[in-house]
Amino acid sequence: MISGKTRFVPLLAHPARHVRTPSPFNAECLRQGLDMVMAPLDVRPDMLERTVASLREVENLAGMVITIPHKGAVAALCDRLVGAASLVGACNIVRREADGSLTGGMFDGEGFVAGLRHRGYEPAGQRALLVGAGGAASGVAHALLQAGVVELTIANRSAGKAHHLASQLAMAFPQARIAAGAADPAGYDLVVNGTALGMHAGDALPVDAGRLDAGCIVAEVVMQPDMTPLLVAAEARGCRVHKGIHMIEQQVRLLVDFLK
Ligand SMILES: NC(=O)c1ccc[n+]([C@@H]2O[C@H](COP(=O)([O-])OP(=O)(O)OC[C@H]3O[C@@H](n4cnc5c(N)ncnc54)[C@H](OP(=O)(O)O)[C@@H]3O)[C@@H](O)[C@H]2O)c1
Repeated sequence: MISGKTRFVPLLAHPARHVRTPSPFNAECLRQGLDMVMAPLDVRPDMLERTVASLREVENLAGMVITIPHKGAVAALCDRLVGAASLVGACNIVRREADGSLTGGMFDGEGFVAGLRHRGYEPAGQRALLVGAGGAASGVAHALLQAGVVELTIANRSAGKAHHLASQLAMAFPQARIAAGAADPAGYDLVVNGTALGMHAGDALPVDAGRLDAGCIVAEVVMQPDMTPLLVAAEARGCRVHKGIHMIEQQVRLLVDFLK
């Protein structure tokens, strides 16, 4: 039931057609008995600043959930960043405080690791290749290191972003081997696509699937389609696959708790 007291949580995206978060988020609110509801808002990047400025004036706004391509830009519009958001300079959730100020958080990574563990895969002690250095990938990199991966290679189309992220993380996690490098999956225990590749028909694969080790686990952040071309190719090669949807399934509780 939506009442006059319902707190609103827009999901800011562009485009918005691919989003899958509202259903599990709203189900979690129902489960917890919270009068809070999420709906997607398709916001063009050139309208983002004005949209966020207007939303912060809305009294019944609990906060906003942020996805592609807005995570970095919204972080810059927050009054403060907490946890992983302050380390990676991107946020996937914003809480509106009573005074209208905005606090940004980042739970993509925690959700990703919780999803792996929920399905019986422990990343501690593993060697990981992460393709991507955007909002979701940055959160995943941080959480994998926090979970104890011993080696992390970050490969990204814009190599400068991979180098920047790797050097930031190397300062925070001096015990791990962290480097920017090539998207060659051979020799890794865990290969993660942290890019948007796979969302659209005709996208290139983020890695050469012929170079995947048969025993490795191949994980996605992309949720739509459910089985991306990378996961299909990895499964055909005998790898264990882990879908993008598992990351949000375990994350919604963290997002709802942040706004309570
Ligand atoms: N499962 C979940 O819970 C969850 C949570 C968050 C996000 N996601 C998904 O994660 C994906 C990325 O989202 P994001 O928020 O991280 O976006 P973002 O911050 O805009 O980052 C996009 C990343 O994808 C790379 N990329 C985009 N197009 C590419 C191409 N044609 N070739 C090579 N690399 C390309 C970018 O490389 P450059 O740096 O070179 O541009 C960057 O690394 C989206 O599919 C989103 O839906 C899933």
